[in-house]
Amino acid sequence: MNERAQIVLTGDRPTGRLHLGHYVGSLKQRVKLQNLHNQFVMIADTQALTDHSEKPDLVRDNVLEVALDNMSVGVDPAKTTFLIQSTIRALPELALYFLNLVTLARLERNPTVKEEVRLKGYGMNVPAGFFMYPVSQAADILAFKSTLVPVGDDQLPMIEQANEIGHKFNSIYGEIFQKVQPLVTESARLPGIDGKVKMGKSLGNAIYLSDSEEVVKEKVMQMYTDPDHIHVSDSGKVEGNMVFTYLDVFDSKKDELSDLKNSYTKGGLGDVEIKRRLAVILNTFLDPIREERARLEKDKNTIFEILKEGSAKANLIADATLNEAKRAMKINYF
Ligand code: TRP
Repeated sequence: MNERAQIVLTGDRPTGRLHLGHYVGSLKQRVKLQNLHNQFVMIADTQALTDHSEKPDLVRDNVLEVALDNMSVGVDPAKTTFLIQSTIRALPELALYFLNLVTLARLERNPTVKEEVRLKGYGMNVPAGFFMYPVSQAADILAFKSTLVPVGDDQLPMIEQANEIGHKFNSIYGEIFQKVQPLVTESARLPGIDGKVKMGKSLGNAIYLSDSEEVVKEKVMQMYTDPDHIHVSDSGKVEGNMVFTYLDVFDSKKDELSDLKNSYTKGGLGDVEIKRRLAVILNTFLDPIREERARLEKDKNTIFEILKEGSAKANLIADATLNEAKRAMKINYF
């Protein structure tokens, strides 16, 4: 850790295994950040339950899966503190005090929640816990005194709201919380194999880090290309063609790739050929990840031991912040 080391907090909702989109958008960056900063990775089971309250098994199973996904790509428990959100006792209490600093109108304005409520068709039947999750997330962020929070652009409103809450708290009770900087990943979002803007756990268009070689091949063969490219001799479109979009990200031989794009555009290069190339590249990339996952998976107790230790360390930090906040709020009696 260097002098400018920051406290970094990121989180994953354990509602499904992680996929290539997560790798490109966040996991890759975590592997780097852990060498520069004091990094915490939160497995946000409490947040997952806000819209999966009827699926306790799903959330429970995916706590382990998400931990394995992180570790198998190189997020290293020796450098990164892993914690399970629900085990951090100070978080719900801090969130409860924060709720007094937020209006219903402000909650309604959060664009990410608004969009999620619309997509899920909740209307007024939105679970109150889901509706207020930005406040709970503000507690996650502020409890660890994080200064840097890597997020996708859809999570920017959460950082904004955390900063508002921290600021409001400070202005009423005294300076406790620092300003938090979002760190938005530079790399573009990886679209789904169907060409939809987002690769999503619930959209059925993802290639998972734990998919087998066969499954990866099958998914690549199903990829959306250019619907007008019917015969090999036809000229094809590279733009919006998922095979090329993925090759842009994962193919390191840029010269060959540029030649392929030219011949595809001209005509004479078939979809099957470029798909075979992509499948080989993705499987070569995923092989060591799958191997590491298989090794780690053999000893689940060790994974839970790591989560337990990380959570114990995180509890000390969050407890200290909560005590500080309660002192400032004049509710420290004994
Ligand atoms: N909301 C984040 C997501 O859906 C997960 C998350 C929970 C998180 N708590 C956090 C991210 C704290 C950053 C910081 O991806």
